[in-house]
Amino acid sequence: MNSEVILETDRLLFRPHRIDDLNAYCLLEADADFRRYVGGRPRPREEAEQRFAESLKPAKDRLSMWATIYKPENKYIGRCGIYPHFDVEGKPIPGEAAFGVYLAKEYWGRGLATEAGKAFVDFGFNELSVNLIVTMIQVGNDASVRMIEKLGFELMRTEVGNYRSFYHYALDKTKFDSL
Ligand SMILES: CC(C)(COP(=O)(O)OP(=O)(O)OC[C@H]1O[C@@H](n2cnc3c(N)ncnc32)[C@H](O)[C@@H]1OP(=O)(O)O)[C@@H](O)C(=O)NCCC(=O)NCCS
Repeated sequence: MNSEVILETDRLLFRPHRIDDLNAYCLLEADADFRRYVGGRPRPREEAEQRFAESLKPAKDRLSMWATIYKPENKYIGRCGIYPHFDVEGKPIPGEAAFGVYLAKEYWGRGLATEAGKAFVDFGFNELSVNLIVTMIQVGNDASVRMIEKLGFELMRTEVGNYRSFYHYALDKTKFDSL
């Protein structure tokens, strides 16, 4: 395995973002379907570039959103990972992480998010000493709900907002061990 590779599955490889991922990253952010439940509107190029710069910063404790490469085509198709779960004061909660997955539309419906999710849940619990993984899904994002429930996450609460509402899901290591 290449030393830069963080994790691998049958079809996917996860590695740190590189400057040459910029264009593919910005094209995803400009896609209204991709952004429907994660921001709600296409992200303008300048904003996407600023956000991309954040993803070039080195990760602490291997908790980050990683560039996601579709191995059969050696192509950047999005980002995925577990990253620090922050409390209301913005401090990382020890032993906890948040899961996220964002894939290009052409690759939806092939089980790739589930494949990535399984790998990161296992990685978090068994290699990074994480005890709880959480995720937030906008109400209406039914593919994401289906994927997260297939991974064993449980609905903890629903946060109802004026414009958008969110499901809060969590997966406990003890529950994962018994799956
Ligand atoms: C949500 C997302 C990650 C799903 O990726 P994916 O690779 O298509 O997911 P998978 O194929 O692993 O699993 C999706 C499941 O939802 C099902 N599904 C798809 N569309 C659905 C819908 N509209 N309603 C209900 N279920 C749906 C699929 O059939 C599949 O279930 P199955 O395996 O039982 O058939 C992908 O659409 C995406 O990246 N969207 C843009 C960013 C985003 O919203 N990220 C999630 C943030 S919480």
